[in-house]
Amino acid sequence: MGSILVTGTLAYDDICFHADHWSGETRNIKLTRLESSYGGCAMNIAYNLKKLGLEPLPVVHAGDLDFEAYATHLAELGVNDIGVIRVADARCSKGIIFTGPDGTQITAFYPGPATTHQSVERIEALGRNHAIDASIIAPDLPESMLEIATALRDTRNRFWCPGQYADRLTEPLIRSTASNIDTLIVNRHEFEAMEQTVSGITNLFHVLVITAGPGPVTLVTDGRSTTVAVPTTQMIDPTGCGDAFTAGFVTGHLGGRTLTDSALEGIELAARCLLCYGAQAH
Ligand SMILES: Nc1ncnc2c1ncn2[C@@H]1O[C@H](COP(=O)(O)OP(=O)(O)OP(=O)(O)O)[C@@H](O)[C@H]1O
Ligand SMILES: [Mg+2]
Repeated sequence: MGSILVTGTLAYDDICFHADHWSGETRNIKLTRLESSYGGCAMNIAYNLKKLGLEPLPVVHAGDLDFEAYATHLAELGVNDIGVIRVADARCSKGIIFTGPDGTQITAFYPGPATTHQSVERIEALGRNHAIDASIIAPDLPESMLEIATALRDTRNRFWCPGQYADRLTEPLIRSTASNIDTLIVNRHEFEAMEQTVSGITNLFHVLVITAGPGPVTLVTDGRSTTVAVPTTQMIDPTGCGDAFTAGFVTGHLGGRTLTDSALEGIELAARCLLCYGAQAH
């Protein structure tokens, strides 16, 4: 198996836990726990792929001012950082995540120093020197995801996880991106947002995977839909469980497993992620 290109973001996460439920009246909150961790969806997916023995090749932007700690972390993991685009005089992206008592999360995200054309140039350069067997387009600015999908038009095994940007996508952007994608992986809210924008969205992808937190995972292919139950599991911190699921699913799928078995691989990895603080600690 060659490398798996993973595009999107590298970020530092601040994960803020609070014990009170928020309402429209909430003006200030007291935190019960604060965790800092390595994050960014593309890097979370890369972390999980590496743990599963695959070779991720992340293409992400990093601000030179504070990349050093992340660079050390990647070196310790053995993740190839040749695709990391370093931007001078800039800070890395930042996720500020508020996690409530029931695991509900509100995320503030600062996208940092991303520039689309550099990603496409880097992908083309990597494609000349590495055997790329698959690509995962993780959440990124909508135009970036479209340009990257277009750059991947002659490749195979392309997965798209629009994540937090799913409700910002226009119909033309979804259709154009989908035309160069094989598999869409989204959570239930993201799917509903995309379905409202494009009717018949299911038909745009060879495989569609919809996660629903503790609810069953839905798999749609060739117009047929099946579900896979998620076992009850302990939850310490839900941050990054969607990215862990994606990495497990992709690993199973590329390994020739059935969609159901691939989903089970994703569910198992997500369960491990739920037991640790942060997205890259399991
Ligand atoms: N409360 C839970 N109990 C058991 N498994 C869970 C729970 N929450 C999430 N998972 C696991 O993680 C997978 C992805 O969860 P979810 O649908 O919440 O994705 P997501 O919203 O993309 O997550 P993220 O918070 O990382 O963005 C689920 O399919 C399931 O396997
Ligand atoms: Mg997600």
